Amino acid sequence: MLSVKNIAVFVSGGGTNLQALIDAQERGEIRNGRITYVLASNDKAYALQRAEKAGIEHEVVSRKAYASSEEYDAAILAALENRSIDLIVLAGFLSILGPTVIEQYRNRIINIHPSLIPLFCGDGFYGKKVHTAVLASGMKVTGATAHFVNEITDGGAIILQKAVPIEQGDNEDILQYRVMRQAEWEILPKAVSLFCEDRIRIVGNRTVILGDRNLENKE
Ligand code: GAR
Repeated sequence: MLSVKNIAVFVSGGGTNLQALIDAQERGEIRNGRITYVLASNDKAYALQRAEKAGIEHEVVSRKAYASSEEYDAAILAALENRSIDLIVLAGFLSILGPTVIEQYRNRIINIHPSLIPLFCGDGFYGKKVHTAVLASGMKVTGATAHFVNEITDGGAIILQKAVPIEQGDNEDILQYRVMRQAEWEILPKAVSLFCEDRIRIVGNRTVILGDRNLENKE
């Protein structure tokens, strides 16, 4: 039998994706996993209050307190030590994780990104900047992506994606909220549950989801 997986959620801001994970957990939709720890990169993150309210242990490991990304990585690894974390979820975590954390948690870090990767992603594309670029492109559809994290920013294997329409009259705020509501808050908890159920296989830079008839090759 699979042992229940311990999930650490990393946040920097409002924490609506953390809230979606907490709500999914309360509905029993994170099968075989539980959020045991929330780490924030700054003490202003409203996500900390969401963790507090849900009774989840939380801590600030401030990016500003460390001179280099190497020192920040070491502080993150120290914070995770002895917590038996099986999965790290980046839920609006806006600091870049360095190679030592990525190596130690290889294929065990999931990020949510507010576009259809490989579009509008990589260095400099985060938060509302993504939606500003999407609107400037004139595209009629965007979406969100849950993916594994590797050394390439937003370059790891894609787990789930969902498309969202762009409507006339949208601005960054309207589009950001629609992408969150229609895509991010749905696919992030699903991807986390699939991981905890051990249903994701990585093949090269792609994933195969076990036991999903809709995604299986019917040839
Ligand atoms: C979300 O839209 C998330 O996809 C994005 O930041 C927002 C955080 O909101 N993340 C990135 O852009 C990462 N490249 P939240 O704090 O309310 O979850």
